Amino acid sequence: MREHLFQFVKDAGKRTLDLVSDLADEQLIVPPMEIVNPFLWELGHVAFFYDVFLLRELGSDRFLLEGAENLYDSFKVGNPLAGDHDVRWNLPLPPREETLAYMKRVQDRVIQRLDHDPDDRETYLYLLSVLHEDMHGEAFTYMRQTLEYSEPQLSIATEKSTPAEVGGGPLRVSPRRYPGRPLRI
Ligand SMILES: [Fe+2]
Repeated sequence: MREHLFQFVKDAGKRTLDLVSDLADEQLIVPPMEIVNPFLWELGHVAFFYDVFLLRELGSDRFLLEGAENLYDSFKVGNPLAGDHDVRWNLPLPPREETLAYMKRVQDRVIQRLDHDPDDRETYLYLLSVLHEDMHGEAFTYMRQTLEYSEPQLSIATEKSTPAEVGGGPLRVSPRRYPGRPLRI
């Protein structure tokens, strides 16, 4: 399973980068729309999900970007369900290079801690985070289409997939790690 998770994390990260790497800086700035997010927000949010629901859940005591929870927590910052989605267009988001650097720090740490065979809980959290990133890969794709950008060129074959066996059962998440909120995507 460790090798599978390693590959899943690498593939998801590469695909995310592929989905934005050809875009000019001006194209990352998008008008407020209900079905899109600022691209830099979306990128940081993907990294933050690993940071909070994998790294912190498994023992990390700080986010790999100071104040990340005030920018990228999708339920506290510009939650469309709360009617304040526009907030995401007015955040002091780090510029592109800093956002990519945060993503790399997170991915490096996520891979670094795969130095042992993960137990069922770790496996679940890795898959949860990877699938969340994949979901945002779909979001990047439809955002590009909505904005009439060109079709992304992916360097990773999309037709291949490797089924993963994951143990069932409930996941217990310690509220001590991230107090005051339930697990959510
Ligand atoms: Fe998300």
